[in-house]
Amino acid sequence: MTTLSPRDLLAPKGRPEPKPGTYYIQTWGCQMNEEDSEQMALYLEDLGFSPVSSVWEAQIVLLNTCSVRKKPEDKAFSLMGELRSLKRYNPDMVLGVCGCMAQTRANEIRHRNPHVDFVLGTGDLALLPGLVTESLQTRRFRKRTELPERKGKVVTDIPRRHVGRTAKLKAFVPIQYGCDKFCTYCIVPSTRGRERSRPTVEILEEIQKLADLGTKEITLLGQTVNSYGKNLLEGNVPFAQLLWKISEIPGIERIRYTSPYPRDFSQELVETIRDCPAVMENVHLPIQSGDDEVLREMRRVYTVESFKEIATRIRETVPGVTFSTDIIVGFPGETEAQFESTCQAVRDIRFDAAFTFAYSTRPGTPAGDREDQIPREEKLRRLAHLIEVQNDITRDINVAYVGQELEVLFDSASPKWPGTIQGYSREFKLVQVQGSEDRIGRIAKVKVTESHLWGFSGTLV
Ligand code: 5AD
Ligand code: SF4
Repeated sequence: MTTLSPRDLLAPKGRPEPKPGTYYIQTWGCQMNEEDSEQMALYLEDLGFSPVSSVWEAQIVLLNTCSVRKKPEDKAFSLMGELRSLKRYNPDMVLGVCGCMAQTRANEIRHRNPHVDFVLGTGDLALLPGLVTESLQTRRFRKRTELPERKGKVVTDIPRRHVGRTAKLKAFVPIQYGCDKFCTYCIVPSTRGRERSRPTVEILEEIQKLADLGTKEITLLGQTVNSYGKNLLEGNVPFAQLLWKISEIPGIERIRYTSPYPRDFSQELVETIRDCPAVMENVHLPIQSGDDEVLREMRRVYTVESFKEIATRIRETVPGVTFSTDIIVGFPGETEAQFESTCQAVRDIRFDAAFTFAYSTRPGTPAGDREDQIPREEKLRRLAHLIEVQNDITRDINVAYVGQELEVLFDSASPKWPGTIQGYSREFKLVQVQGSEDRIGRIAKVKVTESHLWGFSGTLV
C-alpha cells in the first residue's frame, strides 16, 4: 500500500507544471488492487500516456480504491475532495475513481464529488480506455458500476490480462477473482463478485511470457486461492496440479500463493508443497479468530481444533515450513474471554508472523449491521496486546535460525544500510547480507548470524 497522505501528494516541493500525455495512479489496498493498477497503467500506456510521480503533473489521475476497512475509504474520499481544487488549477485533468469503492459507493462518490469524470467498477477494467478517451473528448461525467450476475458465466467475465514489456524478478498473477465464502465481516464478495477461476491455459501462457522476460518468482493471487478450479471449466486443473504445471515452466524457480482458505487445504496440496521443488515452504493461512463461537459468527467454516489439525498436518509433512496468518480483533460482541482464546490459539499454533487488524465496520455486511460493536479504544487495546503476543513468538522462533543456512533470492539493495542487499528465503523470511548489487536477481545460500523481529542478518556462504 502507498503510504503517502493526500497532503503529501498535493504539496510536493515546488509545484510542477501539468504535462499533457501523462498519468498518475494512486493505489490503496491489497495485492489484487496493485495488480489491477498495473493493468490500468498498461491500458493507459497503450493509449500513449506515460507515468509521472505526482498528481500535479498528471493529465489522467486514477484512484484505485479499497473497501476492506474504513481507513483507506476515508483516505480516498479525502484525496477526492482535495483534487477538486487541483482540477481548478489543471482543468484538463481527467479524474477516474476505480476499484472496490467504485463498485459499492458509486452514487455517493458522484454525489459528493461532481468533479470526478468517471467511476469504474472492479469487473470492468477493459472499459478504461473508452472512458478515458470519452472523458477527454466530452469532459462529461459517466459512471460504469454494474456488477453483472457472474454465476454460470465464468469465462466471459474474466478480464484479459496484459503482460508488460519490462522484466520483473517477482510477479503477481491473479488466478481467481471474487469470493463465494461470504464471511460476515467482509465486503469483498460485494466489491469483487462471485468466485471465478481463470482458465489454466491463460495462466500458464501469462507465466511463460513473464518467465521469458526474466521473472523467477510467481505469487498466485486469489481470495481463496486453493479453491482454484472449483467451478471447473473443461481443461482447467485443480490448484495443486496448477502448481506443478507452473513449476515446469523453465526459469520459474519459486512459487507462492495468497491466500488459501483453511477448509479447502487438500492433502494433495500439502504433498505438493513438500514435493514440488518450486513451491516455497511458507503458508499464509488466515485464522481470523481463535474462538469457535466467533468463527461461527464470522461464518468461517472451521474450528480452532480443525485449523490446528491442518497446521500440524502441514508441519509434519513439510520440513521447515513456516506459517503466517490474518487475525481480526474486536469482532462485534467479542468478549474478553473470546479475545483471550485468540491469544491462546496464537501461542499454541506459533505462527511465524501475523497480520493483525482491528475489526472495521463495513456497512451492508451482516457483522457491520450488528448493534454490539466494540468501542474503538477497546479494539485498539486488544490489537496492541495481540501484537505483543505475536512479536514475542516471532522473536523466539527467529532466534532458533541462527547458524542455519537459508536459500535467498536477492531482490533489492537494502534501503537502510549502504553496501547491503536483501531478499527472501524459501520460508519467506527477510534476510540481509553485506554484498554487491550484482547479486540482485540471483539465488544464494546465506548463513544466519543474527536474528531480529523483521528477519535475519547473515553472511554469504
Ligand atoms: N475489518 C478488519 N479486517 C478485515 N479483513 C477483512 N475484512 C475486515 C474488516 N471488516 C481482514 C481479514 C482478511 C484481510 C485481508 O483483511 O483478516 O484476511
Ligand atoms: Fe472476505 Fe472471507 Fe472471502 Fe476472504 S474468504 S475475501 S475474508 S469473504
